[in-house]
Amino acid sequence: MNVNEMMRRDWDDRARRDAFHYIASWKRDWDINSFLASGESDYLTLVSPMLERCGVSANGEVMVELGCGAGRMTPSFGRRYKRVVALDLSAEMLERARQIHAEQQNILWLRVGGADLACLASGWADFMFSYLVLQHVPTEELVFGYIREFLRVLRPGGAFLFQFNGSHKPTMNSRGRLAWGAVDALWAAGLVSVSRTAARLLGLDPAAAGKSWRGAAIEAARIVSVLCSNGGEIRELAGENTPMAWCCGVKKTGA
Ligand SMILES: C[S@@+](CC[C@H](N)C(=O)[O-])C[C@H]1O[C@@H](n2cnc3c(N)ncnc32)[C@H](O)[C@@H]1O
Repeated sequence: MNVNEMMRRDWDDRARRDAFHYIASWKRDWDINSFLASGESDYLTLVSPMLERCGVSANGEVMVELGCGAGRMTPSFGRRYKRVVALDLSAEMLERARQIHAEQQNILWLRVGGADLACLASGWADFMFSYLVLQHVPTEELVFGYIREFLRVLRPGGAFLFQFNGSHKPTMNSRGRLAWGAVDALWAAGLVSVSRTAARLLGLDPAAAGKSWRGAAIEAARIVSVLCSNGGEIRELAGENTPMAWCCGVKKTGA
């Protein structure tokens, strides 16, 4: 099984277990109203101020959201853009999104393979966005591949805003690191059900086993380098060296 198949299997499994919780894992007891309200609240507190500071219009013809999940934030874009292309690698997540937002006519829900945006043409999108997605992607190379794809799909002058894990500092104590290290090593060896059993025995969440949950942490300077060498111009980097690092910028007009 290759890494794309592993990511898809894991996210489909999380969607079946409790999609809202694995999308917005800071809370367990979401209902549909609180779940969608959290999406608009994130838009207003995280997205809108940064776009404003960067001089990027929050309205336009068409935007793309990578890793839309069950569409927690997608309607916030649907209200501000004429058309939204919402992408996810999990068919189960997309199924939930389509059911929840059946009335929404300007959102196209599409499944991607997990490593590129091959389903999209080059040079037409006004805005590319991604939140709580790249932090779960297992390798730097896959994250860099997506960043190159953002710039390919954007029109010259179009904008990007995405969050990634920029922290190399451990977020748990040494016991936690040891336990998750053992669980993740089993997962990486392809022993998925053994790794989940080990997680359960250690009192950990079995659905969070493996590198499709705790993805690659990446130094902001490396992200900047990929953006700059692919025609991107950075307007703001925030939260560098933290798990909630954000990068906003535009595709240069000559690129
Ligand atoms: C934590 S959820 C966040 C969903 C949404 N961005 C939000 O904030 O509500 C992560 C989503 O990213 C998707 N995802 C994970 N890895 C992906 C990849 N390599 N390519 C595309 N989508 C991915 C998962 O299926 C899941 O729906």
